[in-house]
Formats: sequence, C-alpha cells, structure tokens
Amino acid sequence: MHAYARLEDFGLIEARPKSGYYVRARPPGPAAEPVVSSPPTVSTEVNVADLVFDVLEALKRPEIVPLGSAFPSPEHFPIEKLNKAAADAARRLSAWSSVRDLPPGNSELRRLIALRYAESGMDVAPEDIVITCGAMEAINLSLNTVARPGDIIAIESPTFYSTLLSIERMGMKVVEIATSPRDGIDLGSLQNALDTLDVRACIVMSNFQNPLGASMPDEKKRELVAMLAKTNVPLIEDDVYAELYFGKTKPRPAKSFDRSGLVLHCGSFAKNLAPGSRIGWVLPGRFKSEVERLKFIATISTASLPQAALAEYLKHGGYERHLRGLRLRLSAALTAMTQAVTTFFPAGCRLTRPQGGYMLWVEMPETIDTLKLHRLALAEGISIAPGPLFSAKRRYQNFVRLNYGHFDAKSTVNAVRTLGRLSAGLMR
Ligand SMILES: Cc1ncc(COP(=O)(O)O)c(C=O)c1O
Repeated sequence: MHAYARLEDFGLIEARPKSGYYVRARPPGPAAEPVVSSPPTVSTEVNVADLVFDVLEALKRPEIVPLGSAFPSPEHFPIEKLNKAAADAARRLSAWSSVRDLPPGNSELRRLIALRYAESGMDVAPEDIVITCGAMEAINLSLNTVARPGDIIAIESPTFYSTLLSIERMGMKVVEIATSPRDGIDLGSLQNALDTLDVRACIVMSNFQNPLGASMPDEKKRELVAMLAKTNVPLIEDDVYAELYFGKTKPRPAKSFDRSGLVLHCGSFAKNLAPGSRIGWVLPGRFKSEVERLKFIATISTASLPQAALAEYLKHGGYERHLRGLRLRLSAALTAMTQAVTTFFPAGCRLTRPQGGYMLWVEMPETIDTLKLHRLALAEGISIAPGPLFSAKRRYQNFVRLNYGHFDAKSTVNAVRTLGRLSAGLMR
C-alpha cells in the first residue's frame, strides 16, 4: 500500500474507487519548450519593486510549499561540517583579521576561490578577486562601477528580478533582449540594441540562467565577449549557478574569453554551499580598484568570520563530494518535477529543459494569468514565482518559474497537482 501511495504521489498510477490502482496514461512524449522571447528594442524604466516584494513576503512563511523560492532547500547543505569549520576558524581568528580582511578580502579564501577556476580553464590569481556579501553585492558594485543613473543596461528577457530591483533603485533604464530558453541571449538582438541605443553595460547569466535555465555554448560566450569589447561595453556576468551542472564538466564562464578586462564576473557560495554565510565575489577585470573602493564605501568590509569559516571548509570539508551529491539530487528532482508538471498541468504547457541549476520555466496557455494563479495558490499554501516578476515591463503574464531545489516527493507533487487544478479553473 505504501508503494502504491508513493507511485500515486508521483502521478504514475491512479486509484479508481472500488476497482484498484491503474497505470496513468502517459503524456504524449516530452512537452514542447517555450520559444525565444521577443521584447521590442526600446529602453524602458523598471517598475517591479512592489510586485516582487509582495511575492517574496509569502516565502518567509514556513508552512508554504516554496515553489516560488529562489533558494534551494537549506537541507541540501552540509551544515554540521560548515559549523565545525566555523568553530575551528573562530578559535584561530586573529584580532588583526578585521584589518587584514578589508577589501579585497581574506587572502586564503581568495586563493582557494582562484584555484577552483583552473577547472574551467581559467588562470585566476587571488589578486584578481574581491570578496563581497553574496553575488548580489558583486552585481550592485559592478553596476555602480560601470554605469550611472539614466544609463541603459542591456538585460536578458526574462531575467532575475533582484537585478531588476537594483537597476530600478539605481535609476538606470533597461533594454530587454530576446533570450532563448536553450542557449541564452540572442546575439543578433543584442547587436541591434548596441547599434541603436547608447547601451552602457550588459548583464548576462551565461550558465543556467534564472529563470530560463538556459546555458550559452562556449562559442556563443566567446562571440558575446568579442561583440561587447568591440563597442567597449562592459559585461557583468552573473555566474552563481555554475557549480550546479548535470553534465560531465563544469561550464566555462564568459570571463574565460575576456582579453580586455571588460568582464566583471560575479560568483557566490549561496546557491551551492552556504546561503547564510552571504559570501560571494567578483573578478572585476580592469575595474578592480573602483570596485574595491565602492565596496569600502558601501560596507567597509565583508565580515571576517564567515570568510575564514568558508576558507576552512574549502580546505578540509569535502566540497567536491558535497557538490557531486547535490548535483545528483537536483538532477533527479528535475526529472520528478518535469514528470509532475507534465502530468498535472493543463495540456499545451511548454517546459524548459535545464542542464543545471534548480529552476523550471513553464509557459502556460495564454488565458492563464499567473499573478492570479499566484494568489489562488498562496491561499492553498503554495508559492510560485509568476512570470511578470522577471521583466521590467511585466511581460510573461502566462509564465511561471518553479523551484525544484526543494523537491520532497509528496508535498511537491501534491502542490503541482493543486496548481494544475487551479490553472484549469483559470482557463474557463
Ligand atoms: C541569478 C542570481 N544571481 C544572484 C543571486 C544572488 O546571489 P547571492 O545570494 O549570492 O547574493 C541569485 C539568488 O537568487 C540569483 O538567482
């Protein structure tokens, strides 16, 4: 009976009253993928803050099934080993660390981060790195370094809402660039924007883009870097998901093709190891001294103990082993989530096929307003991230981002089933 219950949870079988259990009809093959977005090439102000904070507020409620969250489940992380590393580091922390760890930050941590780049074919020195409070500070410092209020920033469409919030707050404008759910930003559309508008910077998530899960092939990364270098436009590369790949090797960052120092590459431990440590970094290229100064002005320094604790963990904690397990769990969770969505969502939905990360982007039939779905779902204890969050102009009204990084078979499948029922109601 337990096995039947599990299979039913996964949507593989169904119970028929007074008859027994039956294998469910399989959906006809894999669902189609969403098509490339096609926003117009015009600059626009950003206006998403109220909407984003409305949706984020719901995520703090512990009873909610957090399909709308941007974080993986904290249960994926090696908290005991991290705590031990923090205790060991605290015992050895020198009183002078408050001075030594001023920007660019803890030298041992920078050495260990630099070493990890060798795997992606990049020669990074500790001196190339500035430690930040998460990738978000790295992105903010980068934006403030290369652009001013009123400037136009080219962004992928759809894009991560916190970056939109930063741009909105800094009084900058955006031009949304068409982006493929499979291989990322459309270079033809970007060139068109560079030719017709005074674009001051470009922000791209080259690997496992949030929310699309798209990854740019290496050749496309090379072309992107060369295209921007020709017009002297800095590229801010947000690469926070790079470690969460499902393939055999770690994808290269666009930064690895940078010959002119114009790429500001942002990374973080928040998505793959220690969200609470708030440790990220930036490789600012030719903008290093300006980024360091802005970091000092913004927060003086990143706290010493979390830097020392992560350095300690990276040396002794089994990071590679942890990452291998995490990638396997996320990849299995993607399969299960795809199966659940294909089974319970209305016919005609289109799904992305990410090769890493933990976000699934779903295009629903046009009549479904996912802001309405979000409100109905919240009333049933489920959060989702509705499409309009990911666009300066609140496009993608019939899209939704689902986080499979929390995949717990029973609650998630039940939540997806409920979303399917609510969506069917919205189609009438
Ligand atoms: C694409 C992307 N960039 C940056 C961040 C922020 O990273 P951090 O927590 O290191 O500040 C997130 C977090 O959701 C993200 O999804």
